[in-house]
Amino acid sequence: MTRESVLTRAVRIFDAFDPDHPALSVSEIARRTGLHVATASRLVDELVRHGLLARDERRRVRVGLRMWELASRAAPTLGLREAAMPFMEDLHAVIGHHTQLGVLDGREVLFVERLSMPNAVINLTRIAGRLPLHASSSGLVLLANAPADLQEDVLAGELVAFTPSTVVDPRRLRALLADVRRSGVALCPGYIDERATGIAVPVRGPDGKVIASLSVVVPNDGNARAQVPALKAAARGISRAAGADAFDLAPDTRPA
Ligand code: PHB
Repeated sequence: MTRESVLTRAVRIFDAFDPDHPALSVSEIARRTGLHVATASRLVDELVRHGLLARDERRRVRVGLRMWELASRAAPTLGLREAAMPFMEDLHAVIGHHTQLGVLDGREVLFVERLSMPNAVINLTRIAGRLPLHASSSGLVLLANAPADLQEDVLAGELVAFTPSTVVDPRRLRALLADVRRSGVALCPGYIDERATGIAVPVRGPDGKVIASLSVVVPNDGNARAQVPALKAAARGISRAAGADAFDLAPDTRPA
């Protein structure tokens, strides 16, 4: 077996952190990475010295501020986020609850921005958090517009049900994806949590390709469809700001 490089081991340490585990002890890091405690401890010390990891007052390890600075400066989503923010703020002022922007990463949607408010409906998404493509409105918009081989891969893979409403039958899911492409919207009452409805629409880039999904999470009270026109208008605004051709973005006259 070839010995792992220091760099690969350091990457494994970073991978040990996720939205549910933002702070870890060294022994937890060792357990989650499979590294010896002594190795994990030595690498953590070195990464802390460089500011890439940090220790809190309880000596738990967190991702360091310098890591955030580097990542934020160079993030591939920076331009998209800047184009989207003014439209997301307007949309959020009208709809409330949660407004979010997601991009496709692997077989998941990665949320790059989220606006929320006090007393909003429950939401599982977090900034830099992920959801599977088949279960969320954002994921379905991205999957419906993804290359055919990714769609087939997801349809043939494990489809986890978050609630009894999540569509996990591959044939129903295939029909749902076709409907999302046709209507330009994914409306998902109770798919992630019975109390919430996710509604998502595509954001397009300069060549008209879908580069992100704009979504809102609102209460599952049967009124969600009323939000679709505002959501579509905001997505058109973001697409234009991101350089998409106005021709591709003519107001959608099809029924939502
Ligand atoms: C969705 O995108 O459909 C979605 C996401 C998070 C939730 C609920 C719905 O908490």
